[in-house]
Amino acid sequence: MKIVAILGTPHGSRGATGQLLGKVIEPLPAAGAQIELFEVHKMHLEPCRGCSACHKTGHCIIHDDFGPIREAMLAAQGVILASPNYIFNVSAQLKTFLDRCSCPIHCQALEGRYGAAVVTSGGTGGEEVAHYLNRVLRALGCWTVGSVVAETWMLQQPPSAASLFAQAGQLGQRLLTAIRNHPVFPEQTEERRVFYQRMQTLVTSCRDEWPYEYAYWQSRGRL
Ligand SMILES: Cc1cc2nc3c(=O)[nH]c(=O)nc-3n(C[C@H](O)[C@H](O)[C@H](O)COP(=O)(O)O)c2cc1C
Repeated sequence: MKIVAILGTPHGSRGATGQLLGKVIEPLPAAGAQIELFEVHKMHLEPCRGCSACHKTGHCIIHDDFGPIREAMLAAQGVILASPNYIFNVSAQLKTFLDRCSCPIHCQALEGRYGAAVVTSGGTGGEEVAHYLNRVLRALGCWTVGSVVAETWMLQQPPSAASLFAQAGQLGQRLLTAIRNHPVFPEQTEERRVFYQRMQTLVTSCRDEWPYEYAYWQSRGRL
C-alpha cells in the first residue's frame, strides 16, 4: 500500500505543518503502508504555463520535478496534501504543484483513491484551507476521509498539542482503514457526480484539441 504526502511549507518537516503531518504518517509504516514524502520547497517546480500540452499529449512541456511527484501520486492508493494557511489559501509552493494537476483532474486520474488534508494556521482560517485541499482531492477523483487543522500556538502548548497530535494519528488511521475497506462516503456522492459529469462533457467537447484526455476516458470504458 502506497501513500504519498505532499508538504507545501518552506519550513519543511520541522515547521508546524510538517510536525502535524509527521503525526499523521508516523504510525502508517508499521501498519504496512509505504510512505513517500515530497517537500515541494526543496524541489524545482515551475508554474503552469497554461499551454494545454498535457491535455493534448499527457505530458507537461516543463521538465522539472513535477513528473516524479505526479507519477508517485498516480501509483498511490492514498494522498495527503499539507499546507500552512497563507492569506486564506495554500502556500504558493503547494499551489504551484496543484496548478500542474489540470490533466489528472480532467482525467479523474485518482478515481477510487483516498485523500486527507493537513493544515496549520497562525490564527483562524485553517478550516477554509483544509476545505479547499479536500475539494482539490475530490476533483482529482479521491474520496476524502477528513482533515486535521491546528493553530500554530496550540502545537506549542502540551495539552492542546497532545490532543491535536492524537487527532492527526486518527486521521492517518482513517486513511489507512479507507484504503483497506474501500468505503463510499454518501455525503460526497453528489459533488463527485456533478464534477465527473462536468469533466466528461469537457473532455468530450474538446476531443479534437485534447486527444490524450479523450483517449484516457475511452480506454477506461467511461465514454
Ligand atoms: C506569507 C504568510 C502568510 C500567512 N497568512 C496567514 C493567514 O492569512 N492567516 C493565518 O492565520 N496565518 C497566516 N500565516 C501564518 C502561518 O499559517 C502559520 O504560522 C503556519 O503554522 C506556518 O506553518 P509552517 O511552520 O509549517 O510553515 C501566514 C504566514 C506566512 C509566512
